Amino acid sequence: MTTPTRGPAIEVAGLRKSYASKSGKQLVLDGVDLVVPAGTVTALLGPNGSGKTTTVGVLSTLLAADAGTVRVAGHDVAREPDAVRASIGVTGQITAVDELLTGTENLRLMADLNHLGRTAGRRRTAELLEQFGLAEAAGKPVATYSGGMKRKLDLAMTLVGTPSVVFLDEPTTGLDPRSRITLWDEVRTLVAGGTTILLTTQYLEEADRLADSVAVLHDGRVVAEGTPDELKAVHDAGSLDEVFLALTEPSTDEETGTTQDKENVR
Ligand SMILES: Nc1ncnc2c1ncn2[C@@H]1O[C@H](COP(=O)(O)OP(=O)(O)OP(=O)(O)O)[C@@H](O)[C@H]1O
Ligand SMILES: [Mg+2]
Repeated sequence: MTTPTRGPAIEVAGLRKSYASKSGKQLVLDGVDLVVPAGTVTALLGPNGSGKTTTVGVLSTLLAADAGTVRVAGHDVAREPDAVRASIGVTGQITAVDELLTGTENLRLMADLNHLGRTAGRRRTAELLEQFGLAEAAGKPVATYSGGMKRKLDLAMTLVGTPSVVFLDEPTTGLDPRSRITLWDEVRTLVAGGTTILLTTQYLEEADRLADSVAVLHDGRVVAEGTPDELKAVHDAGSLDEVFLALTEPSTDEETGTTQDKENVR
């Protein structure tokens, strides 16, 4: 059998989004274009407040766009939000776990929401508790978990329904090095199985190691996109940190001489 041709899992064109503010409107996304091929990991990078979480919000149907088209898992987020929701998993920047419930109860709740059925739900819950090293704490209320344990439970909850597209907003913030590596392995396993992942991170080494492609958000647009190696080569940089700093300079009239045609000129 030949490899089936699969369309991109995420296609964003001309995405615009502003928030109401005291002084009128704050434009956050000013024409974001992004394509994520199925079965790959893309890291969305950008300074604090550059609109990463807003982008994830629109792509996961939690926020409405002002303009542009967004397709996720083959469905338009504005016209077919239910189909999009059925295909995706989202781990927010702030955890969504219920502190009063135990780890097991949180996962079973997600299994119910995903219509898994009792037996399948229990099996999936046990599988994920094991995978994320939470089996021992499974019966304790989440209020007694450490921050990292809550984060892991949150990720496990995202994966209950075996989504084809997964959004992870700063998934490794607050995780210890071992847990972070476990999460990277988990991401790689998911991707090897065909899952598509869009994650945000402030850890550029993480993006370098994990992502097939990196997109840098700045001034409302994707100002650079490519493999980590491509971006480093283009910017003659030894690390993605250097690339990031070069691309997200707050000043407007820098002369780097190495900027690309995707650079945001205005
Ligand atoms: N619900 C909201 N109402 C009004 N303004 C908002 C809202 N959410 C975000 N913003 C503003 O939009 C901008 C982008 O925020 P967003 O959270 O998308 O950035 P981010 O790139 O995820 O930042 P961080 O790296 O800090 O997580 C910020 O200026 C923020 O203050
Ligand atoms: Mg954010």
